[in-house]
Amino acid sequence: MIGASLGAAAYERAPEISRILAGVGPVEDTRRARLSAKADAILTLNGIGISFGGVTALSDVDLEVKSGEIRAVIGPNGAGKSSLINIISGLYHADHGTITIDGQPFARVPANHLARLGVARTFQNLALFGGLSVRDNIASGRVHTRHASFVEHIAGLPRARREDAMIAEKTDQIVAFLHLESVADRLVATLPYGLQKRVELARALVAEPKLLLLDEPMAGMTATEKAEMAGFVRAARDRHGVTIILIEHDIGVVMGLSDRVAVLDYGRKIADGTPAQVRADPAVIQAYLGTAEGEDSEGI
Ligand SMILES: Nc1ncnc2c1ncn2[C@@H]1O[C@H](COP(=O)(O)OP(=O)(O)O)[C@@H](O)[C@H]1O
Ligand SMILES: [Mg+2]
Repeated sequence: MIGASLGAAAYERAPEISRILAGVGPVEDTRRARLSAKADAILTLNGIGISFGGVTALSDVDLEVKSGEIRAVIGPNGAGKSSLINIISGLYHADHGTITIDGQPFARVPANHLARLGVARTFQNLALFGGLSVRDNIASGRVHTRHASFVEHIAGLPRARREDAMIAEKTDQIVAFLHLESVADRLVATLPYGLQKRVELARALVAEPKLLLLDEPMAGMTATEKAEMAGFVRAARDRHGVTIILIEHDIGVVMGLSDRVAVLDYGRKIADGTPAQVRADPAVIQAYLGTAEGEDSEGI
């Protein structure tokens, strides 16, 4: 049975998925920003494939992301979503295919130049410095903009001072944007999980990326925290023009927030379109509902 092999966690929200795929959800496509068909692609993946030993994590995946859109990638656990983000951010190197970022094609994205390419990301499992303050964690997202040498910094030379002032100013802006003022001087490790996820978003945003990759930014959050995070993600796009790739398990959030949704299953893209199109796609219904019906009660 396919459902059993996909794992129970993927279907923990099965009733909600059924409701939304059936078109009963609160989604109103009419409210969604309509993207011009002519909008430039900021990212294009062509024929991406990657295997780990005998496991094919991704196979012949194409994906186009237009400038200014919120592009969701969904799929059951193990479908290849994180691998996709890891390839776009240069952490993994694809066995096949090309990645074009802002017109520049790569077989392997140079991870150490990611910020200069205008790409920032968050991780599925938090990757913060627990022993540093919120402010210092956020500022670390801008270290790539420093050109002054270590000695210039120690000596407090003008260029170093200017750069530090700029980093501090950008950090303050993001702290205010994400409503983190009251915790800005706290050590990250002392914050509740939901706020730590927000700090990770802040660290990615402080780099002023054109393209932001969010790997399950709402995982493990309460409903209130999820709603707040969804608001911040939308605001990053609406107010700062950031293009966003969003991996998220909460289908309600995905359908309400995204302009277009790509669906992965066993490493293959099985559907791609607006939330309404994807919701009505028989392959998606089969991947989620068909298998969900086969799950035992533990999976639902
Ligand atoms: N670094 C890795 N080493 C070995 N296998 C991996 C690695 N990364 C991903 N995989 C495998 O690739 C498949 C897809 O994983 P992943 O991209 O994490 O899926 P998702 O994020 O959709 O849950 C899984 O079978 C996973 O075990
Ligand atoms: Mg993942």
